[in-house]
Amino acid sequence: MRRLALTLLPCAVAVLVHLWLAHRPSSTPPDTAAHTDEVLPSYEVLVGVLSARHHYELRQVIRETWLGYLQGHPQFQHRVGVKFIMGEHGCPIPEEDREDPYSCTLLNLTEPAAGQEAEIEIVKVSDPSALVPADVPTIALDFKVLHPVVITRLGVFPSGTRQELQSNVTVKLLQLDQEEAVVTARFSAISTGTLVNGVWYKPVEQFILPKGFEGTLVWESLDSGGLTVVNSSCVQLNNGGGVLKISSIAEGILPHRSALGFPGLAGGFTFTIYDGEGLSGLLRGRPARMEHHASRLRQEDASLQQESLRHGDMVFVDVVDTYRNVPSKLLQFYKWSVGNADFNLLLKTDDDCYIDVDSVLMKIDHKGLKRSNFWWGNFRQSWAVDRIGKWQELEYASPAYPAFACGSGYVVSHDLVQWLATNAEKLKAYQGEDVSMGIWMAAVGPQKYQDPGWLCEKECYLDMLSSPQHTAEELRILWDRKRACGDPCGCPWGH
Ligand SMILES: *[C@@H]1O[C@H](CO)[C@@H](O)[C@H](O)[C@H]1NC(C)=O
Ligand SMILES: *[C@@H]1O[C@H](CO)[C@@H](O)[C@H](O)[C@H]1NC(C)=O
Ligand SMILES: *[C@@H]1O[C@H](CO)[C@@H](O)[C@H](O)[C@H]1NC(C)=O
Repeated sequence: MRRLALTLLPCAVAVLVHLWLAHRPSSTPPDTAAHTDEVLPSYEVLVGVLSARHHYELRQVIRETWLGYLQGHPQFQHRVGVKFIMGEHGCPIPEEDREDPYSCTLLNLTEPAAGQEAEIEIVKVSDPSALVPADVPTIALDFKVLHPVVITRLGVFPSGTRQELQSNVTVKLLQLDQEEAVVTARFSAISTGTLVNGVWYKPVEQFILPKGFEGTLVWESLDSGGLTVVNSSCVQLNNGGGVLKISSIAEGILPHRSALGFPGLAGGFTFTIYDGEGLSGLLRGRPARMEHHASRLRQEDASLQQESLRHGDMVFVDVVDTYRNVPSKLLQFYKWSVGNADFNLLLKTDDDCYIDVDSVLMKIDHKGLKRSNFWWGNFRQSWAVDRIGKWQELEYASPAYPAFACGSGYVVSHDLVQWLATNAEKLKAYQGEDVSMGIWMAAVGPQKYQDPGWLCEKECYLDMLSSPQHTAEELRILWDRKRACGDPCGCPWGH
């Protein structure tokens, strides 16, 4: 009896250690995990699957298709490790209360003051000595509408301290990236409009600018010494309690490429808040929405934790899981990967992508793709930079991005991942993780291996390596066909 207990004991310890290892949170920071005496799991290929927190169904299909296949395969299970890349934090702000659907910024509005019909002047000039002649013929002010407004008048600053207008100035309101002006006002010495609080105004046709509208106000004058600007440190702009987000007019800022003039203010405009009642309602409903959202988030956290414990295939990185944060999410995963695994190659994909793992591994073997300074993907060249909408890029000033691999799948060598991980804190996140990766890699100049097998669009070919933008259902069908007849796009007997 005694002998049996003694032999059982080490087994119990072994089982406990095993359980502990399996249940260790996978988000352990690299510096604490990388003890010298700890052997890191070693793979030829580490796969990182970018996944949104609520995409449980997609993760499950991946587990039941290519990921499950890899794990059940006698050789591949040792060659390939797969991790879902998860944001540790959900956005605590309900969608209605965010500035836009892509980030987690609170729509920070205040209740409109009494008499919401009142026109709001974005700038008042009480001290004319704050006005200085501009040294450029065009000045522009970018702004974004966070709650609908109506622009009522456009204005220009007087030319000198005696408040008269001496030059010809045109003021235009444009939608960002559009040629045609929404409204225009022309000022001259003989047609000055009316002077209110140090600004000459003319009324314009009244359009409702919706939430999300991104506009530019442009002041132009072809006369010598035509425009007068205000010293930005002398004025405070009125954004109507946050309904407008006005871009910086601080001195010395370089305009972005598609800007129509130098950032600044050569006049003002007036506006009214549209649907002030709707705004009040939004603010009144906020506390209840916040509470409901917080409880949903707690549920989500709990079920993600369970999912992670059950499968042990999720890495939680310290970012808020929003679209704009995906580049940071990726960098944080690169950091995690070099600290927590040994690998030669890293394959990055998304949770809505079909991956033909057999073909990927076969190609690695046949072509001997185990080099360093190496990037294998389907590259977009000379891709134009967008200035508005989901792919809005205001930080990267060139007209086109450097070559970047489509995000449905690409493979990078370990040394490049190491470089990204080492520099993660310094690398600037641009819009979208694919273009960010292209910009970061442009500094390193890896050898690019172009392969159209990594599809950029939702398409199907027999010899594709990956294909993006699928639903869980579609991913399952592609995989089932692949297993049934070798062709994910369709089998001879139908389906
Ligand atoms: C909201 O705006 C007010 C005033 O503009 C500011 O004091 C406050 O810090 C802002 N709050 C948040 C959460 O941004
Ligand atoms: C403004 O335009 C008018 C008409 O084109 C022109 O005669 C005048 O000289 C201009 N004013 C200045 C200050 O250049
Ligand atoms: C703007 O105002 C600040 C503070 O009043 C002053 O120090 C600065 O010289 C002014 N700049 C210009 C261009 O007048």
